[in-house]
Amino acid sequence: MDKQTKNKLGSKLEKITAESAKQEASKKTVNAIAEMLARKGIDPSEIGRVNKVSVYQQVTKDEAGDFMVHDLQAIQFSPKWEEGPEWPVIQQGPKIQLQKSKTKVSRPKGWEEAVIVPDIQIGFYKKDNESTELEPIHDEKAISVALQLIEDINPNQVVMVGDNLDFAEFGKYLTAAPFKQLVQAAIDRATMLCAQIRSAAPNAKISWIAGNHEARMARYIQTNAEAAFGITRGKLSSQLREKWPVLSVPYLCRMDEYGIDYISGYPESYVALNENLMVIHGNKVTSNGSTTTKYLNDAHVSVIYGHIHRTEYAYRTRLSKNGPRTVMAASPGCLCRIDGAVPSTKSGADEFGRPMLMGAENWQQGMAVVQYQPPGVGSEWFNYEPMWIYNGRGFFRGKEYASK
Ligand SMILES: [Fe+2]
Ligand SMILES: [Fe+2]
Repeated sequence: MDKQTKNKLGSKLEKITAESAKQEASKKTVNAIAEMLARKGIDPSEIGRVNKVSVYQQVTKDEAGDFMVHDLQAIQFSPKWEEGPEWPVIQQGPKIQLQKSKTKVSRPKGWEEAVIVPDIQIGFYKKDNESTELEPIHDEKAISVALQLIEDINPNQVVMVGDNLDFAEFGKYLTAAPFKQLVQAAIDRATMLCAQIRSAAPNAKISWIAGNHEARMARYIQTNAEAAFGITRGKLSSQLREKWPVLSVPYLCRMDEYGIDYISGYPESYVALNENLMVIHGNKVTSNGSTTTKYLNDAHVSVIYGHIHRTEYAYRTRLSKNGPRTVMAASPGCLCRIDGAVPSTKSGADEFGRPMLMGAENWQQGMAVVQYQPPGVGSEWFNYEPMWIYNGRGFFRGKEYASK
């Protein structure tokens, strides 16, 4: 071995020895801190953020007057509970900026148009428990068709009839593992929907009527975490209280930022388009085309409703002292998947809790456009035009709409 190689090896060995001495010292410090915590009865899992670790020496004299050197350690930390929950409960959806539609339409004088958007049931499940891939229970194809129609109509109003969030986890029914811990993903998608509808109808009055599925969130919080119910962000005494609690659908989906009116108070929440036409979510369900009859039996005003996920409509004329008076009841259908992905009374699940996708429910996809004379014009006339959506396609006023 030549001299140069010997020197190189020597310095390498020196380095390794110094490093292992350093490692040995830090190991000693960590062990000493662990012993100190054990002596004080502190469980290391209770430690949150470690703010400072100090290692120092103290010199004392023993009885004989000889100097003694002591290695000492100190640790400053904040307990875990002081930092709040490890996982955020639910956060607002993302801030999204989309381009505004520039579609121009002309309408007969004195008439307005509203697009009716029924049950979207936004939600997800995990197809495979070992992967992070999410499968939507809402139908992106149907939503794409709906957005295109809204953009073409460029309506005065968009009325969403509710159940736009499915909230399976907040429901009273047993939720299987594949549907768990996915509320945040649904909130994020619903926030995007708010941005998309606002960009498709930049000047419209947009209303989101609360359905029974949105109402699940408030009920769940009241039942399981009552102290968190109705809490808003902090305010100074000179400020007004914020309109929506933090754990509420309109706050989480940033509805105020997109100019969307959230109509709470299911089942009494409604939007009146004119004196003879109300839009509600609805709470009646009967089989095979008879829900509309039920509404017509009760109603003295026309009603467009959701909730049943079926396409139905009928009219009834009654005698009145002013002559015949006609009212309509109509359900435009739904925009969620109709193949069994949405948990429902007839849907089945496999041994892992994943939906069978057999499409056992009698559901149809669709939406509607209404031309109406707004209140104040002195008429209660309107015209209802349904659009059936099938497998990402629909036809309206002679035009084909296909999902993009
Ligand atoms: Fe519903
Ligand atoms: Fe629904």
